Amino acid sequence: MEATQVGIIGAGPAGLMLSHLLHRQGIASVVLERRSRDYIERRVRAGVLEQGSTDLLASTGVGERMMREGLVHDGIKLRFAGEEHRIDFRRLTGKGITVYGQQEVVKDLIQQRLADGGEIWFEAEATAVDGIEDDQPRIACRRNGEDTTLACEFVAGCDGSHGVSRAGLVAKSFERSYPFSWLGILAKTPPASDELIYAYHDRGFALHSMRSPEISRLYLQVDAADTMDAWPEARIWDELRLRLAEPGLQAGEIIEAGITPMRSMVTEPMQHGRLFLAGDAAHIVPATGAKGMNLALADVRVLAEALAAWYRSKSRDLLDRYSERCLRRVWRAEHFSAWMTALLHRDPAGDPFDHKLRLSYLRYVVTSEAAATTLAENYVGFENA
Ligand code: FAD
Ligand code: DHB
Repeated sequence: MEATQVGIIGAGPAGLMLSHLLHRQGIASVVLERRSRDYIERRVRAGVLEQGSTDLLASTGVGERMMREGLVHDGIKLRFAGEEHRIDFRRLTGKGITVYGQQEVVKDLIQQRLADGGEIWFEAEATAVDGIEDDQPRIACRRNGEDTTLACEFVAGCDGSHGVSRAGLVAKSFERSYPFSWLGILAKTPPASDELIYAYHDRGFALHSMRSPEISRLYLQVDAADTMDAWPEARIWDELRLRLAEPGLQAGEIIEAGITPMRSMVTEPMQHGRLFLAGDAAHIVPATGAKGMNLALADVRVLAEALAAWYRSKSRDLLDRYSERCLRRVWRAEHFSAWMTALLHRDPAGDPFDHKLRLSYLRYVVTSEAAATTLAENYVGFENA
């Protein structure tokens, strides 16, 4: 049996950043990840970092490549009813966002952990968590085809929405599902716009994002029951052209494509005994607000601070307040994400009254300074939730 101070399940942004922050406080951890390093470094997911997230990466020494390669944006474009409007984040909030792929954040964190002598067990799947109500938690895990156990003082469940750690919680779950999904592609084509375009169209939502001057990231609202079989490449491009109404958009080689369901979920509380959940393991947001990765990073910042206080003074105060401190930000992001989703997606049931309400609200957002500020301050990250 191996042992460490903090056993971390999952090498996504939450688990890796937690391990990095703990190391900076002199606290040892082991990260268990069921996938291979190659797999998680290629997994294409989110791409928008709030200022608070970029600050966290930069201030802890893992932001160098992000500062070089990340694309700083001062606003977004909203398109609907044949019109284009810009929400100027910088003017409205003094802040911007950085477009930098989640798998790049993951790569940077893995590299730093390994350079610092950190332990990440790849292809090691946690199968059960025990002993969180006493002082000797244990994570049962399958590694290299063998069953093994990691003994630790605390367990951080950073294992995403399908992980095992949530089973250890005595908690309430608040959930909402949506009757549509997002089809996302990564394509070898230069971005047709210098800023993100969020488009509301009669045929459904579309989003134009990017990863570099050569690579675009594009999304379409599709039916919740759709699979990729229903979406041959030509149909994807036709639909993107129609919904985004962007003449500069050129079809290019599709490097990656997938469909992600849209879901809202919050687990309350996010902790039990010596088990603490962070990121998608504790809460899911629909992607429209670009909050998933940012919430994951924000949670572990709070958790690392609480664990550091415990190891420094054996005070459980901050640990006891972990969930409560995180949930204020989480619920703000949940509301914002649900609101952006309702505002920008076509309801498959197609209620024409709702469609008119949506157009009216979009027009309000682009004409009222107060409404535009509401969108902007939530998008860049509302710090005082
Ligand atoms: P994850 O990144 O999910 O990391 C959890 C890790 O735990 C994974 O590496 C997983 O392999 C590992 N794991 C799971 N179970 C075990 C186990 N039993 N033992 C060991 N390891 C385990 N957000 C957006 O804002 N925009 C997007 O476009 C977007 N697209 C997404 C697409 C997909 C397919 C998914 C799933 C999510 C997407 N998100 C998006 C959400 C965003 O990527 C997540 O919020 C973010 O990944 C959360 O980070 P995390 O570290 O909490 O979880
Ligand atoms: C991206 C993802 C999002 O969910 C979003 O709202 C904006 C951009 C992206 O992958 O670039």
